[in-house]
Amino acid sequence: MKHLLKMLDLSKDEIIEILNLADQLKYELKHNIPHKKLEGKSLGMIFQKASTRTRVSFETGMYQLGGNPLFLSANDLQIGRGEPVQDTARVLSRYLDGIMIRTFAQKEVEDLAEYGSIPIINGLTDFCHPCQVLADLMTVREFKQQFDGLKMCYIGDGNNMANSLIVGGLKVGMKVSVACPENYRPAKEVLDFANGNPDFFMTDKPIEAAVDADVIFTDVWTSMGQEAERAAREKAFAGYQVNDELLSAAHADCMVQHCLPAHREEEITEKVFEAHANEIFEEAENRLHAQKAVMVLTMAGN
Ligand code: CP
Ligand code: NVA
Repeated sequence: MKHLLKMLDLSKDEIIEILNLADQLKYELKHNIPHKKLEGKSLGMIFQKASTRTRVSFETGMYQLGGNPLFLSANDLQIGRGEPVQDTARVLSRYLDGIMIRTFAQKEVEDLAEYGSIPIINGLTDFCHPCQVLADLMTVREFKQQFDGLKMCYIGDGNNMANSLIVGGLKVGMKVSVACPENYRPAKEVLDFANGNPDFFMTDKPIEAAVDADVIFTDVWTSMGQEAERAAREKAFAGYQVNDELLSAAHADCMVQHCLPAHREEEITEKVFEAHANEIFEEAENRLHAQKAVMVLTMAGN
């Protein structure tokens, strides 16, 4: 695997390879088995948006792999003052062994990969969040042992999380149902990928999507960068909430997942969140293991 730019680029075999290595690295970490597979390598981490999990899990993960993580805030880089991404890519490729970037436009990530000569890892764009979804798939497999026959449901905004979950869920062989308001649907290229697949179902009614679900995902109504739309979004998403009523439509042992940060009593009730906190925080932990696998698979051989 050269880069991790979006889930659409990965084959099922590549996803399973990442998840298997992530499981192995998690085991090794828990058993104090050293796995310094990136000794002497440096990862630049460019952040144009806030982060808790992504920053800390990449930074710690790189350290555990024996490498050197560099936190690069866009506020401090020349990229924040308009230096073209094409130039940033060619310069950083001469110092670093890989770049993780969190930004707005997917094109910026794709441009880094095109103009640079080192692996690029997408740490979230407005279009997608592949690192999160790899951790999500890892968590589902950890709790349910397999993907075959499982139904994944997503409730809420057709945003970066929805875009990545739909693609990731279908690629590993799950049924995927999505409930979004009409004007907040997933991206066209994701629907082009999913439509026509008999395992994909989309509705604007959350209860319909939740029927017989084995795992329910949700995400914030207002993503980073959309703060000015908050009031309109609160109106549009009222009713798109993971609560006890919604869960009563799902299987009794249905998991609940949330990429975090969560807004209690908006997209998820406090009660459901706390009842499923164990699964949700395992999901957050798995960011570390899944991203270490991605870093090893993209950076170790170079
Ligand atoms: N889920 C996630 O990406 O969290 P951060 O925004 O804290 O990195
Ligand atoms: N959809 C959210 C995910 C945060 C991890 C956002 O983009 O802000």
